[in-house]
Amino acid sequence: MLEFPVVRDPRGDLCFAHSSADVPFPIERIYYLYNVPPGSERGGHAHKNLEQVIVSVSGYFEISLSDGAEEKSIVLGQPHVGLYIPKMIWRGLKSFSADAVCLVLASKPYSEDDYVRNLEDFSRMKT
Ligand code: TYD
Repeated sequence: MLEFPVVRDPRGDLCFAHSSADVPFPIERIYYLYNVPPGSERGGHAHKNLEQVIVSVSGYFEISLSDGAEEKSIVLGQPHVGLYIPKMIWRGLKSFSADAVCLVLASKPYSEDDYVRNLEDFSRMKT
């Protein structure tokens, strides 16, 4: 878990992150999920080489993680906290609150070739 600097002010809170100091890779791309309908599930894949930091900038959601040996589930719901996901970790996102905005900081541009979308392929690649 990464904790980003926050500047609190009577006008509101301001959170920021630098590639060098706060995120363990140069940020090449950002994307975000929002308007996620109730009951919807996202993710369900791993990345061969991509590193990511996932932040719940609004609301909350649950992330399940697997390295092929161990599984873990985490609820993200603090806008100043990011979850670092190294390459080759299977992840699934679910239980989004209606106001959830899931911001993803990514180390590489989008490439479908980088995805492992089949769980059996993932398990085989991890052994
Ligand atoms: P995907 O990564 O499978 O979404 P999630 O893991 O959140 O369920 O991406 C969904 C679609 O969006 C897929 O067709 C690829 C496309 N996409 C892009 O074009 N660029 C991007 O940066 C991302 C993340 C996805």
